[in-house]
Amino acid sequence: MRARVTGTGSYLPERVLSNADLERMVETTAQWIVERTGIRSRHLAAEDEATSDLAAHAARRALEAAGKGADAVDLVICATTTPDLVFPSTACLLQAKLGIHTGAPAFDVQAVCSGFVYALSIADNFIRSGQSRCALVIGAETLSRITDWSDRSNCILWGDGAGAVVLEPSDEGGIISTHLHADGRYAGLLRVSGGVSRSSLGPNVMRMEGNAVFKVAVNTLDAIVDETLAANQMSKSDIDWLVPHQANIRIIQATARKLGMGMERVVVTVDRHGNTSAASIPLALDVAVRDGRVKRGETVLMEAFGGGFTWGSALLTW
Ligand code: UT7
Repeated sequence: MRARVTGTGSYLPERVLSNADLERMVETTAQWIVERTGIRSRHLAAEDEATSDLAAHAARRALEAAGKGADAVDLVICATTTPDLVFPSTACLLQAKLGIHTGAPAFDVQAVCSGFVYALSIADNFIRSGQSRCALVIGAETLSRITDWSDRSNCILWGDGAGAVVLEPSDEGGIISTHLHADGRYAGLLRVSGGVSRSSLGPNVMRMEGNAVFKVAVNTLDAIVDETLAANQMSKSDIDWLVPHQANIRIIQATARKLGMGMERVVVTVDRHGNTSAASIPLALDVAVRDGRVKRGETVLMEAFGGGFTWGSALLTW
């Protein structure tokens, strides 16, 4: 019995911030941003819109696509680095918003940009063990709240959004394997300087040594692709679709090259929403499922890399 995605959904907030808008905010050019990142615009949550609101839109769409009502959900996992509150978890707030009153366990997962792959892996284990029959897995972020809008090397990258999937047990297709890793020695390269138990060493905004992160990301993603294929005795040509974390088009292109895949087999949405951390994979997946690119029976590889460092992959038959 495998866990199969039976519905996807996504949501981007209404407000769009273009590269031209950023030209007016920091010393940059639209051309530099597109060439170095592939990003053309990003969406920003409204002042009264919290992560759980974005998540609720995406989750409703995923449940609708799966043909499931709130009463069917028996597990809610929300991957986020930008929760509404310290507690209750965003997953619990979301559960209330969706009217899931089944007593289903609900919790958040914090693995930054790898959060969705981590959450998917946990849900996969719940389904395989028989503990869940209908899991709702969401990646949702309001990164704009922790962005330093005066730091040109950083603020051009991030955006807000949410994506969700419904997972159910199935005899056909589903998640083949997931692979999760972390190495806390790199914590300093990508971080927010303060939190709850450590007083802030500066403003509570993201700091990243972009170039150093970039290099580790490319090498690490190369390695996780190899690990995932080897674990399943599969070769590169067995992969029909790459649905990568949407951080930077150059990182995505490097992984595609590693897989020997043409970019027409890679789902790219980073141009329209920037790096939305845990939301980026389910956002991209939803787009490719709804526009008919990803079809039942095809093999999909998802991979992510982010703060921690954390990284991971999920291989599945759609
Ligand atoms: O999702 C989690 C993981 N995160 C990532 O994977 C992101 C990884 N990093 C990146 O995407 C890239 O490193 C960035 C897009 C952040 C930066 O691109 P880069 O090619 O690594 O540029 P750089 O940091 O090496 O900077 C190159 C030059 C510098 O100028 P000098 O020193 O060569 O004169 C920067 O000051 O570009 C300059 N620069 C900018 N110029 C115009 C930095 N930001 C900007 C900007 N506009 N916004």
